[in-house]
Formats: sequence, structure tokens, C-alpha cells
Amino acid sequence: MTKKLSEKEITLQTYNKSAKELAEYFNSIGSRKSDINRAFSYINKKEPKVLEIGCGDGRDAEYIINKTKNYEGFDLSEEMINTVKTKVSKGNFHVADLEEYFFKNKPNKKYDIIFAFASLLHSNKQTLKKVILRVSDFITKGGIFYISLKIKKVYTRETKKDRFGTRVFYYYTPELIQNFAQNRYKTLFMETQIIGKTEWLTIILQKTKN
Ligand SMILES: C[S@@+](CC[C@H](N)C(=O)[O-])C[C@H]1O[C@@H](n2cnc3c(N)ncnc32)[C@H](O)[C@@H]1O
Repeated sequence: MTKKLSEKEITLQTYNKSAKELAEYFNSIGSRKSDINRAFSYINKKEPKVLEIGCGDGRDAEYIINKTKNYEGFDLSEEMINTVKTKVSKGNFHVADLEEYFFKNKPNKKYDIIFAFASLLHSNKQTLKKVILRVSDFITKGGIFYISLKIKKVYTRETKKDRFGTRVFYYYTPELIQNFAQNRYKTLFMETQIIGKTEWLTIILQKTKN
């Protein structure tokens, strides 16, 4: 009997199977230069420590690495990590699951900027709430958590099938993300943007306490 795959396994299968095609697609859009510049403008440090959650094929890693040598990126997809390693020679890349990474590891090393570009959108709200709170332990005081994800009028789960395969997405609301951040962070910046048929939220959370 074949085992029924969990939604995470289905999404992962797509990222692994279509890593090359997705990398071509992400590269055609280009890196998020203005987001990255904005993030660095809040941190008054030379060579800040940066972590990228769900770095994918490295669409943004190269640009970040030009701004700091202290970059670390991880992704659930082994194929995405293989792709980024051939593309970006500097930087420290590894395979990890964001839903486990921050709970398995102790916050011995703290980051000034943690980026999550379009990666938290595969986690449901119970998990994301825990992740956002736990991530604050890994950020220096005054450091930031830079998040971009898809939004709708209400929190929604959607199974999407396209030319890359099947993936499960969660759509949030700005209020829900701010609610998860509770008193651990303050909101420094928030913007919504419609790209194609999708509405995106960019939110910068700044850690307020030690
Ligand atoms: C939509 S892509 C975005 C990739 C990249 N950040 C970008 O913007 O081009 C989502 C990425 O998140 C990764 N991902 C999904 N679930 C994850 C998890 N639980 N832990 C770590 N990475 C995950 C996927 O493998 C994929 O590379």
C-alpha cells in the first residue's frame, strides 16, 4: 500500500521535482533589492548577521551576501539547496525545516536580520504563531524579522496545482501576523501589494526586548 503524503511532503515534492523550473521562474523576476536595502537601512552595523528562511534557489542570497559576509540560508528542499550551492559560491546553505529548526536549536547565535521571503506561506497558523514567537529568541535586540507572504480578507488554506506541481499555501491577514508578534516585536513597516492576481504583505517586525 502506498503511504498517503502529508501536505508538507506534497509541497516539498513539488519544490524538489521542479527546482530547476522554479529557479528559472524566480530568476526571471529578479532579486528583492529594495526590500533588502530597506532591511539593512534599519541595522546600524557593519557585516550584520543574516539568516534567510526558505532561501530557495538563492534569488536573494547573492544580493544579501554583497552586503554582508555573515549570511546563512536554509530551505526544506534538498534540490533547492543543491541549486543554490552551484549558483552562489559564498554563503552557508543547508537543508532544514523552519517548523523544527528554531525548536531543535538553542539561540546561541543571534541574528540582526532574519528574512522570510515567501516561505512562511506554507505553514499553517498554529505553527506560524509558534515560529514567530520563537524566532524572536534568535534575533538581537533591535534586530528585525522581515516577512513577505500572501494575504486575503480572511485566513485561507489553498491547494494550488500549476505547471510546477501541487503546493499547499496559507493566506494570512496583516492583523493575524501582528497578533502573532504580540509584545515581542513592534511593527516598523508594513505594505501590501498586488502582484498578478495575488495580494502580498511585506511586514518588518523589530524585536523590542532582550
Ligand atoms: C515560494 S518559494 C520562495 C523561495 C525564495 N525565498 C524566493 O522568494 O524566491 C518557497 C520556499 O520555501 C521553502 N519551504 C517550504 N516549506 C519550508 C519549511 N517548512 N522549511 C524551510 N523551507 C521551506 C520551499 O522549499 C521553497 O524553496
